Amino acid sequence: MPLRSVIAGCGGCLPAQVVTNEELAARHGLDTSDAWIRERSGITRRHLAGPGETAASMGAEAARRALARAGIAPEEVDAVIVATATPDSAFPATAVHIQRLLGVTRGFGFDVSAACTGFIYALAIADAMLRTGQARCALVIGTEVYSRILDWKDRGTCVLFGDGAGAVVLRAEEREDGRGILSTHLHADGRHADILHVEGTTGPLRMAGREVFKHAVMKLAAVVDEALAANGLARDAVDWLVPHQANIRIIEAMGRKLGLPPERVVVTVDRHANTSAASVPLALAEAVEDGRIRQGDLVLLEAIGGGLTWGAALLRF
Ligand code: UT7
Repeated sequence: MPLRSVIAGCGGCLPAQVVTNEELAARHGLDTSDAWIRERSGITRRHLAGPGETAASMGAEAARRALARAGIAPEEVDAVIVATATPDSAFPATAVHIQRLLGVTRGFGFDVSAACTGFIYALAIADAMLRTGQARCALVIGTEVYSRILDWKDRGTCVLFGDGAGAVVLRAEEREDGRGILSTHLHADGRHADILHVEGTTGPLRMAGREVFKHAVMKLAAVVDEALAANGLARDAVDWLVPHQANIRIIEAMGRKLGLPPERVVVTVDRHANTSAASVPLALAEAVEDGRIRQGDLVLLEAIGGGLTWGAALLRF
């Protein structure tokens, strides 16, 4: 029987500080409005990290919750793979800091850099390693502190992002019921590196929003079709779309493309804003926690971000 990577538990962690659009505009003296931000992006508020909240601390907390829900002890984890564009230090990797915070002492850990697509990349790597026997139980985490790399004078970017972390526990299992990751699909095209990037290693982030928007709609539509075709599945087989949370207009366009009613599309961008590599696992954790996504459901994950990088994962939860 083939090995499958099965999600045994999910968890999320958001910083305590919640900042509304009006508060953000007032705090930084921005020439913007709640109405503009809501209409163009769907965002109403975001969580921003306080002094003690780091990529590692939030990632570890999300992982703790995922492990608790899976009923798995830290001692069983033998791989920690972290997607982040905002590590606390150049090295050691955020994964190693999280290992220490959780008390994981076996196996290996490393970070993946693929901007907002990072979690899909990390999930694909973990899946390949689990299915080839290089690990048995992996923590896959997206954790970001974008508030540290934003230009708070640039209204075109600083209103769009938030901080947070999401995690899943993946376990290699021999299964007959079809549960597990069915396929992952990764892409990158460095020709578009300049339309969404961070200057140097400390920022700020720069984005040509309209350009990224056009690529997002086209590339996400294509990668979603690619994932379904690879599994011989029609669009109506999908139970849940868990998309990258950058803009409600992009999310709704993807839902319409799949013919999914809005209630089958998981949305957090209104409350979390864009948390980059954390957005997909945070949304997944929320929908699993509140009972929407159930065992056996077909779930489609997708994301696009700086690089450009983009990708999708199809899984039977
Ligand atoms: O996570 C990685 C993937 N990222 C994305 O997918 C983001 C993709 N892009 C977007 O979500 C949208 O392009 C934005 C939300 C960034 C912008 O929405 P838009 O409808 O594409 O607006 P725009 O950039 O075309 O700007 C329209 C106008 C401009 O003014 P002019 O040139 O028409 O006079 C901007 O200067 O809105 C202005 N503007 C603002 N006005 C008030 C830009 N930012 C703001 C702001 N408040 N915060």
